[in-house]
Amino acid sequence: MRKLGVNIDHVATIREARKTFEPDPIEAAYIAEKHGADQITTHLREDRRHIQDRDLRLLRETVQTRLNLEMAPTEEMIAIAKSIHPDEVTLVPEKREEVTTEGGLKVDLEGLEDVISRLKSEDIFVSLFIDPDNETIKKSKKMGVDAVELHTGYFANATENNRDKEVDRIQDAAAYAKKQGLYVVAGHGITYYNVKYLNKIEEIVEYNIGHSIVSRAVFAGLGEAVRLMKQLIVSR
Ligand code: PXP
Repeated sequence: MRKLGVNIDHVATIREARKTFEPDPIEAAYIAEKHGADQITTHLREDRRHIQDRDLRLLRETVQTRLNLEMAPTEEMIAIAKSIHPDEVTLVPEKREEVTTEGGLKVDLEGLEDVISRLKSEDIFVSLFIDPDNETIKKSKKMGVDAVELHTGYFANATENNRDKEVDRIQDAAAYAKKQGLYVVAGHGITYYNVKYLNKIEEIVEYNIGHSIVSRAVFAGLGEAVRLMKQLIVSR
């Protein structure tokens, strides 16, 4: 059965907008797991714009499924991964000015192979977030990763006219990655509206989804949240 990894970063984004205690990403992870999430993903960014170091420590203590830490391949992050010991690390590119992760990791990056082997020697399952491209997959495999996460952002941004082409590209890459013996994940920009186009790609064994789930959660709960506040005001 295909698995669902839930990225809880956007819960922390709302909290950090006020630098307060709510909403709590730890509680978000707990609720996600209670409702079927197979894995919790979180990205500790260099600028700490959403998830904080304390969140990561608490997630490590509380997540009951698998904790997937997305991180840039930097010395600071390697040290954090070694001390927190997530079940999985997904290496991603990171630029301070980007709104979100914009493209796959450049696998020719100097020192990447060494980063992978240092993480693997800690018994951490290592994945690379890459563009759906066979040459990149081949290089990833050679560097010893366990998994690849195929970047679905291009597909998510495609117009109706070129969506099929993007789906085919992901399909080909997923089939190739599976043939290489890699665990195949897909993520970025997957929504309640577009996931149906990817579902036919059987080689994808896991999705990583964040923004769309958190967006849906806001409206799934907004009515109840207003009702409760109204109740507090009128029953004073
Ligand atoms: N996978 C990776 C590697 C990401 O960087 C992100 C965004 O943080 C996601 C998946 C989730 O993307 P989205 O929030 O668009 O579902």
